[in-house]
Amino acid sequence: MAEKSFKYVILGGGVAAGYAAREFAKQGVQSGELAIISKEGVAPYERPALSKGYLFPEGTARLPGFHVCVGSGGERLLPEWYSDKGISLFLSTEIVKADLTSKTLTSAAGQTFKYQTLIIATGSTVIKLTDFGVEGAEAKNIFYLREIDDADKLVEAIKAKKNGKAVIVGGGYIGLELSAALKINNIDVSMVYPEPWCMPRLFTAGIAAFYEGYYANKGINIIKGTVAVGFGTNANGEVTDVKLKDGRVLEADIVVVGVGGRPLTALFKGQVVEEKGGIKTDAFFKTSIPGVYAVGDVATFPLKLYNDIRRVEHVDHARKSAEQAVKAIFASEKGTSIDEYDYLPYFYSRAFDLSWQFYGDNVGDTVLFGDNNPTSPTHKFGTYWIKDGKVVGVFLESGTPEENNAIAKLARVQPAVSSLDELGKEGLAFASKF
Ligand code: FDA
Ligand code: NAD
Repeated sequence: MAEKSFKYVILGGGVAAGYAAREFAKQGVQSGELAIISKEGVAPYERPALSKGYLFPEGTARLPGFHVCVGSGGERLLPEWYSDKGISLFLSTEIVKADLTSKTLTSAAGQTFKYQTLIIATGSTVIKLTDFGVEGAEAKNIFYLREIDDADKLVEAIKAKKNGKAVIVGGGYIGLELSAALKINNIDVSMVYPEPWCMPRLFTAGIAAFYEGYYANKGINIIKGTVAVGFGTNANGEVTDVKLKDGRVLEADIVVVGVGGRPLTALFKGQVVEEKGGIKTDAFFKTSIPGVYAVGDVATFPLKLYNDIRRVEHVDHARKSAEQAVKAIFASEKGTSIDEYDYLPYFYSRAFDLSWQFYGDNVGDTVLFGDNNPTSPTHKFGTYWIKDGKVVGVFLESGTPEENNAIAKLARVQPAVSSLDELGKEGLAFASKF
């Protein structure tokens, strides 16, 4: 196979790759200069749709409906957009070797790609129960969700196991979004997770109490404080039940596992400096190797606002880091400079008729405001995080666009507060002042 050579190569074809491609076009990339290499068989799309609209029985989202950059209200980049711009998309192409010294990538099929500038945008992969040797974890109908092929397999199983039973392992993002999606499909759902409440990496006990109550009212059976230790199977090798550490056994036609992700950095081990599990970058997403950038889930970058370095596994940062890296590449070619990345963390989720947003940092004391009773008619409640006398993070369920803008601004401004009691009483009105 003839070697292919490009001025710029993006390795990975997910969210960051798509937003980087749009920025390359804005910056005037020439036809033939840029290639995107992706293991997936489709052009970059908005990954969050896979755990939401893609699984809905009605109003189902399908490609090309959610190619990037629709998730942030931008123009949809259809496959033709890339060919019109002279951007090469190598799909269903997995890179199995990366040599940063000779600037060469090699695919599973033996194709080699040379680059002058590389953007690593390989994202994350799922942690599997087989990684811990859980008995029976290889059974059919045990699913993970990362890529569109995974979602297609799950959709097939939902159709095949109509009105069946599902066990969702994990109480994080995937656990909460997938439990809702399966329930909407009329599947009987149980959720199992080891912690005392769901989504402990962000939620306080007060926030979690609302979601757990709401899910229970929807008929979802929540089992906390234990883990899945084994799976039973039938003669076809299909899962039939989930064995829990506390001795209980749950019947299951479908199991969905969401026990966390792992950034895909293995190709670069020993070649580039890593930190906090990701590839270390500066405020322009440059790695320790000249001409090599890392963006999205794989990047460990300086979070200026908190004078810290962090890795963020959320879509807003994937989009913004990609744009920052491409702007930096063009600026350095022109001998100009751009501002450092100054990111305000932003996470969100949607399930059933609920929708929350979080901005800032979840450290320090917390103050719950509003009504977190799961049967309340408005569902409007939230939490402030206060550190060193300043509000540093805000969570809000069921906010209007104006309210969500207000909490974003608050998390950026970090106003001082003198009394946590007063803050609790003022509630959302406090955010609206900024
Ligand atoms: P991303 O995973 O998008 O893309 C990586 C790409 O690289 C993939 O196409 C992969 O195939 C490819 N690749 C990897 N290794 C390769 C190799 N060796 N060769 C070739 N290609 C390779 N966030 C949020 O803020 N709100 C939300 O609602 C959601 N919802 C959500 C749902 C689901 C199901 C998932 C899995 C994740 C989310 N997220 C989210 C997280 C968000 O989607 C995630 O942070 C971004 O997709 C990260 O973008 P990246 O481009 O870094 O990786
Ligand atoms: P997560 O880190 O959010 O949650 C993992 C959860 O797994 C933990 O909270 C814990 O409850 C559970 N867990 C850990 N070990 C377990 C075990 N042995 N048995 C049972 N439960 C166990 O990870 P995730 O939900 O798998 O999400 C994967 C990735 O996708 C993350 O990067 C996440 O940010 C991303 N994602 C984000 C969104 C969003 O932002 N709305 C939505 C979906 C996925």
